Amino acid sequence: MSTQPPDRPEVEVVAHRGASATAPEHTLAAYRQAVALGADAVECDVRMTRDGVLVCVHDRRIHRTSTGRGVVSALDLAELEQYQVVHRRPRGARRAAAPVAAPVLGEDDDLEADDVEADEDAGRVLTLDRLLDYATSSPGRVRLAIETKHPTRHSGQVEVALLASLQRFGLLTGGRPLEWSGRAAVRVMSFSPTALRRVRLLAPDLPTVQLFGQVRPWMSARRPHLAGRVVGPSLALLRQHPALVARLHRAGAQVHVWVVNEPEDMRFVLSLGVDAVITDEPARLLHLLGRGG
Ligand code: G3P
Ligand code: CA
Repeated sequence: MSTQPPDRPEVEVVAHRGASATAPEHTLAAYRQAVALGADAVECDVRMTRDGVLVCVHDRRIHRTSTGRGVVSALDLAELEQYQVVHRRPRGARRAAAPVAAPVLGEDDDLEADDVEADEDAGRVLTLDRLLDYATSSPGRVRLAIETKHPTRHSGQVEVALLASLQRFGLLTGGRPLEWSGRAAVRVMSFSPTALRRVRLLAPDLPTVQLFGQVRPWMSARRPHLAGRVVGPSLALLRQHPALVARLHRAGAQVHVWVVNEPEDMRFVLSLGVDAVITDEPARLLHLLGRGG
């Protein structure tokens, strides 16, 4: 079993919630599609159910992405599994209009029925373990970027459960991650510095990505602690502060930008030299990079 990373592409293409522009987000269909297209990594949001199971769901509530209603943390897995996953995309969301921040829907934003496209054949809610099972048994290599959502609500339980799952699937060894454990590799992302500190405490070598959508004091290029770190600014932030990428690079950080779907925005972030682009449209980005099928 090799622990060596394969040759990395110059820019990593990360399929956001799977190939979520063309398949229902956070479903195996979306992840399989992303891998088949040749995406370098797939992104997944995790939340904890009332009975302590990590599931791949972005919103706090389930009505946008399923036939059910309610809050993930107030439902048991068995209850969540009663509902069908549906393909609903906010109209116009994530489309950046330079230089002003794009309207981005928050987790609690309500969508009306006519704001969405629906596909009633998307299966049941995906658990993190099922995704890890797919990633570690898929014939190709799958790099996973796992984002913890509102980990503070569970005061550390999310990180503990996440690392236990990674351990179960052989993605951690004695607290040290294998860059590639056979076929999968993992990094953990969060908007919460506390959550990432907890992850690093429990698994010091597991790569983490600090996400942010606003200028933060720690971005200062003089701060040495960014060396070797990965940070994830939003597209809207880079539109407002394009020099940020060079500054972060000078500080020794890698830059993973989210969520970039339009060709013009893709060209813009590529021109800045970002290290990874998180997108709902992996096919479009791969094509732009000359890596399309
Ligand atoms: O990859 C980071 C990005 O997913 C953060 O935004 O709201 O889509 O989870 P969100
Ligand atoms: Ca996410």
